[in-house]
Amino acid sequence: MTPDQLRHLAAEGQRLTPLHLRELLRQPGRYAAHSHRVGPLLLDQSKQKWDAHALDRLGELVNACGWEAARDGMFRGDVINRSEQRAVLHTALRAIESRLPSPAPADVRKEIDDTLQRMAALVDAFERGSGEFGVPAGITDIVNLGIGGSDLGPRLAVEALTDFHTGRFRCHFLPNVDGTEIAALMRRLDPKKTAVLLVSKSFTTQETLLNGSVLRQWIEEAYAGDKNAAARHFVAVSSNVEAAKAVGIPAERVLPMWDFVGGRLSVWSAVGFVLALAVGMPNFRAFLRGAALMDDHFRTASWKQNLPVLMALAGVWNRNALNHPTFAVIPYADRLRELPSFLQQLEMESLGKRVTSEGVPVEQSTVPVLWGNVGTNAQHAFFQALHQGTDIVPIDFIGVARPHHDLRSNHEALLSNLLAQSAAMAIGKPFEEALAEAKDGDDAARRALAAQRTFPGDRPSNTLLLDALTPESFGALIALYEHKVYVQSLLWNVNAFDQWGVELGKTLAKAILPAVAENADASKFDASTQGLLAAIKALS
Ligand code: F6P
Repeated sequence: MTPDQLRHLAAEGQRLTPLHLRELLRQPGRYAAHSHRVGPLLLDQSKQKWDAHALDRLGELVNACGWEAARDGMFRGDVINRSEQRAVLHTALRAIESRLPSPAPADVRKEIDDTLQRMAALVDAFERGSGEFGVPAGITDIVNLGIGGSDLGPRLAVEALTDFHTGRFRCHFLPNVDGTEIAALMRRLDPKKTAVLLVSKSFTTQETLLNGSVLRQWIEEAYAGDKNAAARHFVAVSSNVEAAKAVGIPAERVLPMWDFVGGRLSVWSAVGFVLALAVGMPNFRAFLRGAALMDDHFRTASWKQNLPVLMALAGVWNRNALNHPTFAVIPYADRLRELPSFLQQLEMESLGKRVTSEGVPVEQSTVPVLWGNVGTNAQHAFFQALHQGTDIVPIDFIGVARPHHDLRSNHEALLSNLLAQSAAMAIGKPFEEALAEAKDGDDAARRALAAQRTFPGDRPSNTLLLDALTPESFGALIALYEHKVYVQSLLWNVNAFDQWGVELGKTLAKAILPAVAENADASKFDASTQGLLAAIKALS
């Protein structure tokens, strides 16, 4: 944003400061004007602290940043990830289910299609235990080894779509290098009935490779050191196919992904193989279809109706006009409990930038800290601060209209809590009302209690309502957030597709490892690192 744009945006925010959300919600036609449906998703933004005038100004802002041309560039396969000189083609992975042309050139489309067919054949081999592709018979447990985008998307998807599991396999996720989980898993599982998916786009990630070698050894021991028998338990997914083959996984069990798919956008590729195993290929394709529905909408709807654009505008409005530093995501659906963690990577790795694509410091604040947990659990933990704390935290509430169970009273209670919380955040409870309720004590005591029982309200939220949690609606939901993040990056002029900020720590960890593992000289490190190394040595 330019300094002028930022000033005008802040002025719009100021203009609305005295107008309480309670008043805005009384405007005639408010809900109709600010709610939009796309397929199985309904977005209600009538509880954002904005009005038609503010939204028009935001519309001017998004038009001025050239979002349509940029969007078309992404869907044309332009090199929009300029710091890595890459196109951004995760949408090509689901274009097979789209009514619009795929963004990918013919050779890439063929590779994507071939990979989907190979995934289908492998799922079949696992399910039937037919021995095809070297897959051993009798596999009951699948361990997905991957971290970041190679873990969060698949993990979220497998849990979100639990009601569609075939029941054939139990799925486990091992992202962390902390040995606690992997040790526990090896105690619990039978190595001869376990398959390991080694998922790493780069195939250089320390955590994944280390865990891979631990599980490799565990399985080898079960086969009295027979490396070939153990290798049959591994499938690799990587854009570095040669590196995967080099660790002894034969080509027939190495599924490719590509440089033009970012890790955090990769669940649609073979990175989602664990999901395909959990729910079967037809449901995996339905998941792609839901995302394609959102892609088609994003490609064709004007900004006023365009869900990803409207979500991005709310994000920018809350961050840059109203200056809210954090943002919470609260799904009222246990199946979506991993959504906040997934969105942390999607939003904060994509938008956690302080310079533009030209290397110039940005004018405005960028990504708010994203956090959250499921409702109603969250109500009994941190909602106190959301209602009455000194910081306002905009919220995305997510609900599901039709559950996959018959426990009506539970579901009615869940939905009424969702609706009540977003209403209470917006409307609040004025001091006078609280005072009228305070019966005991003298005037001073009543006023003191009333102040504590006042809810300021005026706290904004989006509500996203899914008709039901299905592969299609879930695919559409994830694609919605992906495109929202892209539009927000255009408004802030930052590259949403690189993540240079994670490199320094990785390099330092490599440099420190010899001092932890081999007592190597630590004098080159800072005083704190030296002190902590000494403390660790003394305790180990
Ligand atoms: O460290 C960050 C990161 O590069 C993420 O962007 C990525 O999703 C994750 O690590 C895992 O990377 P890989 O799939 O290459 O192992």
